[in-house]
Amino acid sequence: MAIIAPSLLAADFLHLGDACILVNESPAEWFHLDVMDGRFVPNISYGPSIVQSICSTTDKFCDVHLMIEEPEKYVDDFKNAGASQLTVHYEACPHLHRNIQQIKNAGMKAGVALNPHTPVHLLHDILQDIDTVLIMSVNPGFGGQSFIHHTLEKLREISALKKENGYTFFIEVDGGIDLKNAASVIEAGAEVLVAGSSVFKAAAPMEAIIGLQNIK
Ligand code: DX5
Ligand code: ZN
Repeated sequence: MAIIAPSLLAADFLHLGDACILVNESPAEWFHLDVMDGRFVPNISYGPSIVQSICSTTDKFCDVHLMIEEPEKYVDDFKNAGASQLTVHYEACPHLHRNIQQIKNAGMKAGVALNPHTPVHLLHDILQDIDTVLIMSVNPGFGGQSFIHHTLEKLREISALKKENGYTFFIEVDGGIDLKNAASVIEAGAEVLVAGSSVFKAAAPMEAIIGLQNIK
């Protein structure tokens, strides 16, 4: 069974507290929190203070997805906000190894995200150091986009590398995940499913989480 990581980006921000209660009462093990800066991606979402409010509601794993340039400037802020893991983008980090060490030294798990066009093999020399590989299945910046089918090949590739080398990182997929495609991403190797719209825009969000959780 996959870990479900509901993305609060798709929640009603006027009622974020209710969204947190929903996730806390659900079988989802992770919160997925999307931070966007209007530079790395063409959208702005929220920063450390909102992350802190959300993290304060839970003992669950707070998975913070940084779609920002210069993430090194904010590592301590997100640590203090309660993040369990910071995931940075390969494309935003010329000094990726240093960024990963900084996050781990601050006491958090460290992940690396790949945009849809960024090849998996570019992670070759960092895979032994990271806790999560996040395969983007849409172009980052917005919720509610359609799943990019080619992502399945990237999931198979990273899954094969993990098995061959005995790596321990999680394989996470993010973007356009719903009840229709969840089985295929799991079959391709995804272990953590981020789901925004398919949970929070659903008529029955709790059932949507349970439905995703029950897919083998
Ligand atoms: C997109 C974000 C996603 C987004 C997913 O840039 O990284 O986490 O919230 O939303 P859905 O599930 O609606 O594609
Ligand atoms: Zn995300």
